[in-house]
This record gives sequence, structure tokens and C-alpha cells, in this order.
Amino acid sequence: MNSHAITFVFLSALRVFFAGGSSGNLPIMSFDEGYSHLFGDGNLMVLKDGKSVHISLDKRTGSGFVSQDLYLHGYFSASIKLPADYTAGVVVAFYMSNVDLFEKNHDEIDFEFLGNIRGKDWRIQTNIYGNGSTSRGREERYGLWFDPSEDFHQYSILWTENLIVFYVDNVPIREMKRTQEMGGDFPSKPMSLYATIWDGSSWATNGGNYKVSYKYAPYIAEFSDFILHGCAVNPLELSKCDAAPEHKMIPTGITRRHRVKMENFRKKRLPILILL
Ligand SMILES: *[C@@H]1O[C@H](CO)[C@@H](O)[C@H](O)[C@H]1NC(C)=O
Repeated sequence: MNSHAITFVFLSALRVFFAGGSSGNLPIMSFDEGYSHLFGDGNLMVLKDGKSVHISLDKRTGSGFVSQDLYLHGYFSASIKLPADYTAGVVVAFYMSNVDLFEKNHDEIDFEFLGNIRGKDWRIQTNIYGNGSTSRGREERYGLWFDPSEDFHQYSILWTENLIVFYVDNVPIREMKRTQEMGGDFPSKPMSLYATIWDGSSWATNGGNYKVSYKYAPYIAEFSDFILHGCAVNPLELSKCDAAPEHKMIPTGITRRHRVKMENFRKKRLPILILL
């Protein structure tokens, strides 16, 4: 080995060491431990390691999966790699919802990725429904500081009794604090986690000007590093849940350092408020 090779081996070892130190302790679950298949039969594929999943959209169908449990509060996370190249009209969503239990007054906390036209930046959207209303948490759109189709990035939702935070790679990008005057508009009923890919041709990219082109299908979104660290609800008694034990790698609120990061992000990536 020449000295370059030795340096390379040393740096590689260092990288493995640090990567292990920063994420290795997170309570990552296999797909089967936390999730079930939701729709799109053959378009959901669990990889051999059991910890990664591909969901795809083709001419026939989109696909998706759902958590086995309902949760009342917690920290929910996945690493996601979006489909590359021409993805106009393709929507990938990672979100919490209880719309199947509360049709008229559901809660929802969303990450949505709105397909892009080659060469343009991806847009990411966050959205919150509380008891059927978006008056407190309407859509915000942002640009990202990386290409989310090039590699896996971690997207997380922290939901507590009084606070909701969206994170991208440990940078909080949005927070919503509960206030007295919100009343029921703060999500407060148990929700399931969902991940889906589907055809949003009618609205997703430039307000629907760019449609899904099945010439480029299948569109594949990759999910990995699942964390469902929440209070799992007994479905017969929605008000009771079993809290996951506290975990030092899992945030419970925004630290001062995080707040600075969030403010910097929001200054630079000025959220684009959408008036529908
Ligand atoms: C939620 O909405 C339902 C139906 O509109 C209403 O009856 C209920 O009082 C609301 N809950 C809260 C906490 O505001």
C-alpha cells in the first residue's frame, strides 16, 4: 500500500466510525416491525435487508404503506431518496393522518414532494390539518439545499402535545406551537404514518402544467431508516397509549442551536405561501 492508499483506508474507517456514532444509535425498525402494505400490490418491494422499501408509480398504479399502529404524539422519521430525472406530476408523500377514522374533522401532518422538471429544483411542501381545518398550518413550499433524488435524506416529524416540528436532515424547517386560541385546530387525535407515491398531474408541478409522463416510468421512491418512536394507541381506547421510552438521540423540542438553524433556513429558502 502506498501512503495515499493508507490515508484513504484511514479516512474510510474514520467515516464509518463517525457515521456509526451519529446515527447508529437511533431506534431504527425493519419495515415489517412497523409498517404494512397499503396499496399498489407489486409496486411495493421490501429489499432483502428488510429495512428498505421501494414504492413505485407506473401506468397501472401508485403504491404505498401504512404504520401498523396509530400514534398519539412521537417522533417519526424515514430516509427517503426520490425518483430522478423527469418527475413532473409525480407526488411522493410521507405523512400522518387519521382521515379514515375522522372523515369530517381529521388531523394531518404532511411532507409532500412535488415532482420536478429536469434541471429545476425539487419543491417540498409541508401542511398541517387540525380537526379538519388548515387555518393554522396551511401549505408552505420550500427549495432544498440539495438534490433529494441524488441520495437519501432524513425527513422527520416531531409531534408533542404542544408542538409540531418538521426536520430535514436534523434542520428544523417549520414549527407550529399550540396556543390557547387555536382551540381544536391543533392535531390532537391519534394518527397513522403513511408513505405513498401517486399521480398528481392535475396540480403538483407548476399548478398542473406539467403532467406525469409514463415514458419515464416506473418512478421509484426509496425509503429506509424507519423510526416510529411514539405513543402507540390501543385502537379500542383511543385516548390511551404506550409511550416509547425516552431516547437521547430523539428530540423532544427545539434547542437553541436548532432554532438558529431553522431561522437561517427560513430566511434563505423563503417559504412560498400558497393561496388556494
Ligand atoms: C372538532 O370538530 C368537531 C366536528 O366539527 C367538533 O364537534 C369538535 O368540537 C372539534 N373539537 C375541538 C377540540 O375543537
